[in-house]
Formats: sequence, structure tokens, C-alpha cells
Amino acid sequence: MNAPLAHPNWQEILDAICEDIGPFLNRGKVADYIPALAEVDPGAFAIAFAGIDGTEASAGLSDTPFSIQSISKVFALCLALELEGESLWGRVGREPSGTAFNSIVQLEQERGKPRNPFINAGALVVTDSIVGHCGERSGIARLLSFIRRCARTPEIHINPVVADSEAAFGDRNRSLAYFMKSFGVLRQDVPTVLDTYFNQCAIEMSVSDLARAGLFLAANGTSPVINEWITNPDRVERVNAIMMLCGHYDMSGDFAFRVGLPGKSGVGGGILAIIPNVGTVAVWSPGLNTAGNSLAGTVALEWFSHRAGINLF
Ligand code: DON
Repeated sequence: MNAPLAHPNWQEILDAICEDIGPFLNRGKVADYIPALAEVDPGAFAIAFAGIDGTEASAGLSDTPFSIQSISKVFALCLALELEGESLWGRVGREPSGTAFNSIVQLEQERGKPRNPFINAGALVVTDSIVGHCGERSGIARLLSFIRRCARTPEIHINPVVADSEAAFGDRNRSLAYFMKSFGVLRQDVPTVLDTYFNQCAIEMSVSDLARAGLFLAANGTSPVINEWITNPDRVERVNAIMMLCGHYDMSGDFAFRVGLPGKSGVGGGILAIIPNVGTVAVWSPGLNTAGNSLAGTVALEWFSHRAGINLF
């Protein structure tokens, strides 16, 4: 690890990354499992930092909203833990899966209990919990307002075209959901859980809003942005641990090795990383590596962690 900089000049670090990242853009493959995502410019890049002391810095297309996809699973988990409490762990584990994000292979052997809340099966259990506590129609509204509150902005929306595409090409998620229902792990109406999940994947926001929204995870659960308690410090420690171990699917080890921070990726090309007691950094670049994580985004975070000396290890 580099010695941490006493007072990193965050803006300078982000500007330099934005300048150097060019050769890595266009190298990955944009998610094309739904047409709405395949249309995104593969050369796009944005990065933003939010500090618990109120510092903000950004570079690139930092105000452009993008599809946060699986990054929504972090916020959904925090909300579900608030609503249901620790009993949620009875039906979703906290072990790395070592499998792709939409894999079904472990589910039969493990009697329908997904390895962790960040693979699709586990995220569907989390969504099931939110639907169970909020009612069939209100789950997605509750999650959206939770994220808006964390980011202190109403300017965060669901893209209906992406949500429709998720539903149109969502047979794998349907399979996972009905399979878990057969084990009694999902409890609510499956089409409602799926509809909520498809909409949650289609939430769009900019890297600046995303960095701000995740700040409570760097600040023991009380967001300095809104000066409000979001969740308790114990939960923050646990959610960060799961991000570190499971946030990048079967490349979580590689991300921890290279970046050394808890992070969560999405197939839209976004990554949110947490620097405990310092701040958050969000990056967006739509070209993906083979595991479905942003290729240039991971390189950018590797440089960020190295240049600012904030690798946790
Ligand atoms: O569940 C799905 O198929 C998509 N909405 C993918 C979510 C996602 O981002 C997975 N990650 N990298």
C-alpha cells in the first residue's frame, strides 16, 4: 500500500485519471443482453468522489445518468435489513459464490438459499423481503425514495425502456425466482417480485449522485450529506464486508486484489466503491470485462486507490 496522502487533492487525482484512461475505453464489451443497454456509447467515462467532510470532486461525464443495474442491490440490501432485520440472513447467505451473477447451479444443492445478496438469486430474495414489508405496489417506490433520500436529490429515475427490456429478456431471472419459490425461500407473488427487481435494475443516476448516495456506507451509517441516520454502524460494517467479498461476482477476488476497497458493480458499467471513514468513489464506463464488470472503471479505481494511498490493506 502507498502511504495515505495527508490531504489528497481529489480533483487533481480524478482529472489525471480521466486524462490517462483513454487507451482503456472501448476495450470492453457493452452489455447487449437488452437492446436499451447496447445503445450506450462505449467510450463514455465518468468518475466522482464524495468525502464525509463534504468535499466533492468529479471528472468526465459526471452529470450524465446511466443505468446503475446491480449497484441497486446494495441499497436494496440496506433497506431490506432495515425493514426485516437479521432474520433476512435465514434465507440469503454471505459467502462469495465463485459463479456468474445469474448462475443457477448452486441453488439446487443449497436448497434454494442463494450464496449472497449480490448475485441475482440473492437480490431477488432481498426484493422479496422489500415487497413483503411494503406491499405489492409500493416496494419499488420505497426503494427509489430511499435512494433519492441518500443522494439528497429527487433527480433519480427509473428508465421505463430499460425496465421493459429487462422484463422482455428476463427468463433467467424468472427461472431463479420460481425455483426459489419452490423451496419456500421466496414468499411473495413471483411476478410482483420480478417486476420490482426489473424496475430496480433500471434506476438511472449520475456518478456524482451515486457517490453521494453511498456516503452513509463510509460514515458509519449516518449520511453527512443529509445529516440523517440511514442505518446503524454494525450494518454498514457487514454490508461493506459483503461488497468486498461478493461485489464483483466471480471477479471479486481480482477487484479486492487490485483496488483493495469494498465495491459493487453493475452491467451498465458503473462501480461504487467505499473508503471507510473517508468517502466514496463512483465510476462509469460501459465496456465490460468477461465477468460483467466495467473494464476501464476497474482500472480507474485501481489507479485511484494507488494514487490516493487508500487501499485498505
Ligand atoms: O438481472 C439482470 O440480468 C440484470 N439486470 C443485470 C444486473 C447486473 O448488473 C449484473 N451485473 N453485473
